[in-house]
Amino acid sequence: MEYPKIIKLPLEQYAIKPNLQDYFKMVKEFSGDKVSLELDWFDSEHINIAHVAIDSHLKTDRRDKKALIWESKKGEGEEYTFQDLSRLSNKFANVLVKDLGVRKGDRVFFFLERVPEIYIGILGTLKAGGVIGPLFSAFGPDAVRDRMADSEAKVLITSPSLKKKINEVIPELPALEHIILVRRGEGKVDLKDLFYDEVMAEASESFDIVKTHKEDYAIMHYTSGTTGKPKGAVHVHGAVVGHYATAKYVLDLQEKDIYWCTADPGWVTGTSYGMFGPWSNGVTQVVYEGGFSAKHWYSFLERKKVTIWYTAPTAIRMLMKAGNELPQQHGFDSLRHMYSVGEPLNPEAVVWGKEIFGKAFHDNWWQTETGAIMIANYPIQDIKPGSMGRPFPGIQAGIVDDNFNELPPGKEGNLALRPGWPSMFRTYWKKEELYQSRFKNGWYITGDRARRDEEGYYWFVGRTDDVINTAGHLVGPFEVESVLIEHPAVAEAGVIGKPDSIAMEVVKAFVSLKDGYAPSEELRHDIQKFVMKRLSSAAAPREIEFIPTLPKTRSGKIMRRLLKAKELGLPLGDTSTMEED
Ligand code: PRX
Repeated sequence: MEYPKIIKLPLEQYAIKPNLQDYFKMVKEFSGDKVSLELDWFDSEHINIAHVAIDSHLKTDRRDKKALIWESKKGEGEEYTFQDLSRLSNKFANVLVKDLGVRKGDRVFFFLERVPEIYIGILGTLKAGGVIGPLFSAFGPDAVRDRMADSEAKVLITSPSLKKKINEVIPELPALEHIILVRRGEGKVDLKDLFYDEVMAEASESFDIVKTHKEDYAIMHYTSGTTGKPKGAVHVHGAVVGHYATAKYVLDLQEKDIYWCTADPGWVTGTSYGMFGPWSNGVTQVVYEGGFSAKHWYSFLERKKVTIWYTAPTAIRMLMKAGNELPQQHGFDSLRHMYSVGEPLNPEAVVWGKEIFGKAFHDNWWQTETGAIMIANYPIQDIKPGSMGRPFPGIQAGIVDDNFNELPPGKEGNLALRPGWPSMFRTYWKKEELYQSRFKNGWYITGDRARRDEEGYYWFVGRTDDVINTAGHLVGPFEVESVLIEHPAVAEAGVIGKPDSIAMEVVKAFVSLKDGYAPSEELRHDIQKFVMKRLSSAAAPREIEFIPTLPKTRSGKIMRRLLKAKELGLPLGDTSTMEED
């Protein structure tokens, strides 16, 4: 099927008009020579994300406006105004500072479902000057241990059932001093731990927000690479300028909007655009606790009268797969814009969106490291289906060759950005050398390959490393291989991303077995379950192929490149360094 090369958008549907004055102002302010951007700074050097996101609204009519409308998996609802979130996060900040002795810069980690307490806790931690580390609730014990041990987190906020999942690794976290349990109707708990409801009941509602410097650390998100364990990308309080500006000018958030971001707070999209971006713009957010369900999502969009919706390609493809009958039973008149991030958005999905919702999905590109949207199909421009859009004002993007020299339009190369935007990561936690290695010839090298066309639109080509993007989750092959070889039957393992029509890629493992073990369906399931339990369902190999030996270099490194070529039926290329059987 032929898809339109360009989708012309009726500009009157956007609140933001193609007003170049606004954009020039943005470029100037975003690039850092001014600090205002209408945000509530303490002074020209000091800003606190939670203050900007929540408390700055208390002086305005938004004081009693709903900030968070939450719906549980069972369909129960809770609502919080900006004032409620301010009061509750003050209490939480007091718990951390007064009861637990948390100091500026201490790491406070969250291993929680998508419940209101994660929002309150994160805001409270930021107010207290702590550094937040949200963890995806589907993680297993190894994934949690690796991140918490590396960051030396002092406090963990979790639930009784999630704590049970990681009990065995808690002794491996010597820096961890306190665990706060959020019980939502859950019974059995460990008496040594603190209970969220109890400590909060005692805490004062007034708190002097720590006047953090714009360069003080605020947020840590762990992200996977080709080698080694996941590394913590660190963001600062000044990043909120980027969250605010991009939420305003890309997502076009306006006073009356009802905004829904489907990302989990465990990922960067769930904090930058599931908390700080929308709230710094004073917008009401709706949150659904549960995961993906076509039936529930359509109903949620309709019932909550969502106006701005931020989601991901895999979810869109799953909605497409669920058929067109279901959405036709619902009305989506409230929707103003729809956005997508995290993986390439295929043109079919853009066109399908237009058919079903009457609106096109706006694809945009960014990374954990960039902290905020860098390249986008933003409201004032027509969409080229399949393209990620154009750089945000103030962001200078480029395509560079392998010597890091800029390439002309039309040429494929490394996607790079000129460093210095407010939400750029400031380091990989305790891995400064690795951080520095990402900057070359005055560019931040993103690790993605792309090309730019004559009109300045960027087109994603692929990644330059072995990291697997499965349903928008980055999975490091090394992490999965390390867990696989802990399984008693596994001698060696090599992991690759296998193309998939829904999830873009799925994890595929090639495994050789130890003597005495024979391939079987049962063993395959057992190995899959083993990885799922230790790491997460996203990291668990969807496919396992048993092979007698793995291709290796002479120094013993598993050649994933050859495994991938074999899987895709591609020429095997240079095999001169391969082990001879
Ligand atoms: O490879 C790119 C892909 O996701 C990576 C970033 O993943 P992560 O750090 O988990 O950040 C998630 C927050 C967005 C990128 O390096 N990616 C992201 N957006 C797109 C994309 N690939 C293609 N098209 C996109 N729009």
